[in-house]
Amino acid sequence: MCGIIGIVSQNQVQSHLIDGLKRLEYRGYDSAGIATVQDNQIHRRRSAGKLINLQNLVESEPIQGQIGIGHTRWATHGAANTENAHPHSSREVAVVHNGIIENFSDLKKHLQEKGYTFQSDTDTEVIVYLITDYLHQGNDPLTAVQKTLTKLQGAFALAILFKDAPDTLIATRHGSPLVLGIKENELFVSSDAVAFAPWTQQVCYLEEGDLAVLNAGDCFSYELYDRDGHKVDRPLRRSQITGESVSKAEYSHYMLKEIFEQPTVLSDTLQSLLNLENQKVSLKDIDLNWKMLNRIQIIACGTSYYAGLVAKYWFEKWAGIAVDVEIASEFRYRSPVMSSNTLNILISQSGETIDTLAVLSQLKEHGHQVLALVNVPESSIARKADYVLQTLAGPEIGVASTKAFTSQLMVLACLCLKTGKERDVIKPDVYESLVQALVSLPGMISYVLQNSEIYQKLALGFTTARNCLYLGRGITYPIALEGALKLKEISYIHAEGYAAGELKHGPIALVDLTMPVVVLAPYDEWFEKTLSNLQEVIARGAQLLCLTDQKGEEKIRQQIKAGYSMEIVVFPQVDTFIEPILYTIPVQLLAYYIALLKGTDIDQPRNLAKSVTVE
Ligand code: M6R
Repeated sequence: MCGIIGIVSQNQVQSHLIDGLKRLEYRGYDSAGIATVQDNQIHRRRSAGKLINLQNLVESEPIQGQIGIGHTRWATHGAANTENAHPHSSREVAVVHNGIIENFSDLKKHLQEKGYTFQSDTDTEVIVYLITDYLHQGNDPLTAVQKTLTKLQGAFALAILFKDAPDTLIATRHGSPLVLGIKENELFVSSDAVAFAPWTQQVCYLEEGDLAVLNAGDCFSYELYDRDGHKVDRPLRRSQITGESVSKAEYSHYMLKEIFEQPTVLSDTLQSLLNLENQKVSLKDIDLNWKMLNRIQIIACGTSYYAGLVAKYWFEKWAGIAVDVEIASEFRYRSPVMSSNTLNILISQSGETIDTLAVLSQLKEHGHQVLALVNVPESSIARKADYVLQTLAGPEIGVASTKAFTSQLMVLACLCLKTGKERDVIKPDVYESLVQALVSLPGMISYVLQNSEIYQKLALGFTTARNCLYLGRGITYPIALEGALKLKEISYIHAEGYAAGELKHGPIALVDLTMPVVVLAPYDEWFEKTLSNLQEVIARGAQLLCLTDQKGEEKIRQQIKAGYSMEIVVFPQVDTFIEPILYTIPVQLLAYYIALLKGTDIDQPRNLAKSVTVE
């Protein structure tokens, strides 16, 4: 969602602000802007739409200044137009803001009564006038911001410039992440270390409620205050995110690059969880009483939720334990009946998803232990959870999740094996063979990727489709859901994933000659049943794409009536355990190439955000 960058420098900051915003584009946005202070005046440029509009604007109307803030806005309050784009400013201050001010209408009324005139429909502008008002009352910038914070309700992060304090930038986090980047003679603040990755890896993550004062002056320095206004130190860390890890390299899109990175990141993730000497899963810091566990509750959103659905099949079959999988935005407002001896697993690539984070707080408030599975180790979810397992997917820039999803699956597969072993449910020989199956996966995925041109050709048959159906049974059912989500996200073709057995209970009414149906049908314990569903689809003349293996292909060809043409893609025969990971790759590639043909904005699909930090 929205992105913040702030820079205090000995150089002009306009071009660095724009560069930083470019690296935040992936989060999703619909307008952008920057502001600087120069000659005791605030200078501001804003534009609706893509960043290129802002770039063009600052090329024709540049702004000067060695201190500045920038923002990519994902509209919540008010349309995605220039008036509502950040920074918002008065004569005295300029503010960029992530998150939502829940009590903004009361504050706005109060400020209007005091004579302030609002220029936008945003909730952000109340912050501008509150700070301005406190400055008018004679407060210094720090006190004015601190007093303003006591009035604001909601989850937010801010970066603020002051006309009369041209060396000072103040930033603060309350429910939305912020990180400082530290370099000699240059300081940065951002919602995401990606923004300043090419310039520094030395970072400092603000804690909840922290406020940072960044100063230029004689030497570049910063001070941190906690939520009670006490000066604090926070540890400096070295960020793993480098300039290189956020480049597209030779790929046309981040999504394609990230799809092709999967053999490497899955291998890295697996190696981080395997004891290489004995090839056993070892989760070093996870100290659970595995034998006492009688239930697992997995809570997540979107693609991460689908990873949880796959895990349900794994844990039930190979670890003999009951699993509930929950959508975080529903779970947090229900009255779930919790039992002891339940392991709560929260899955989140970003580690910042607001609903998942809220569930984490609720669970902790009620004394439940939480294991978080995240891709960003410094994220809010990782920092609040009792235990953390990390996917080593590296930064995922494409909004549509690919390598993060399969890495989540890799960790969950290992966790399942560990649980099954500790609970003496899984037989040693089965355990060994499943570990070997996981070890073989990166190679299999490389093989599928080497043949990616298949999906380019298949994509041609989908470009005129208005609807599409994905079917799976058993352990591939969640991959049908994920395949449909990928397609709708990036190609804007309406797609639904269904359990193949549910076909007759409704969706078959949609099937006709114009409807492509993608069936995930490896030759496994569910195959024969899926084959019957295939027949039902064929009987209605749908365009069929069948993803299967060699045995599956033979059976399909034997049974399908002559003259019916369908596409079949054949995959290596694999253990059922790893099917969901392997069969994810074709649905990702298919969605990518269909979107490519449709000419959509693949890395930043419309209306979507990478990190969903507002409800
Ligand atoms: O960062 P998270 O895993 O918590 O994000 C949850 C969803 O927003 C996310 O998985 C989303 O569905 C994917 N980007 C879709 O590709």
